[in-house]
Amino acid sequence: MADLIPFSAALRERSSSAHSSSERSGFMADLLEGAGTREDYIALVAQHWFIYDALESAAERMRRDPVASVFISDKLTRLPALEADLAFLLGDDWRDRISPLPTTRAYVERIRQVGATWPGGFVAHHYTRYLGDLSGGLFIGRLMARRFGFETNGIGFYLFDEIADPRAFKEVYREQLDAAPWDADEQERVIGEVLRAYRYNTELFEDLAAAKAAAVA
Ligand code: HEM
Repeated sequence: MADLIPFSAALRERSSSAHSSSERSGFMADLLEGAGTREDYIALVAQHWFIYDALESAAERMRRDPVASVFISDKLTRLPALEADLAFLLGDDWRDRISPLPTTRAYVERIRQVGATWPGGFVAHHYTRYLGDLSGGLFIGRLMARRFGFETNGIGFYLFDEIADPRAFKEVYREQLDAAPWDADEQERVIGEVLRAYRYNTELFEDLAAAKAAAVA
């Protein structure tokens, strides 16, 4: 099986139902369909800050790894854009006004763990976030801009100024996945970690919905 279809295609196929669950989560669906508020959007941006802080710190360490470093590109770096978005959305004291939800804490802990010890696991988390950001993320950014009247301030996270052709970028990324020197067992472990990353993302939407319900109760 692994010999018949490229690893990137197997990964996409094996994670497609986890992707659908994430995509259909009520919190995200509400935001996309217009039932979510500006505060909901800001709550999501805040959680992204914790996640990308962990992911991009791990990337700094993984730059020294021969396999993981191939995937790391400054063009993807999101933390400065998230910080500018939060300053715009919450004010200069944004850092004092945000805190991680329980799933974010667990997600960040996992990224730190694999980011320090396991290149394949790091790539799994890198893939799940950045390929998503370069796919549905572009559409979500445009929709949020329209919905809440942002131009570029507030949605900088979704704007990849240095990636003119996301489709071509993703194709190269998939070729790199196919070229990674992982045997069948390691490929399975990487797919397992991608599924775990999707679970964190889906559970984060559940946490955000619960926090919102608690705030209005
Ligand atoms: C909530 C709304 C979402 C929408 C509308 C959406 C939409 C899409 C679309 C249309 C694609 C296919 C792009 C292509 O064929 O090149 C895609 C791919 C992808 N999405 Fe999402 N997505 C959403 C949420 C998520 C979430 C929460 C994650 C995980 C953090 C995610 C991760 C990914 C990944 C990793 C891919 C690339 C799959 C691959 O080609 O290997 N998406 N998304």
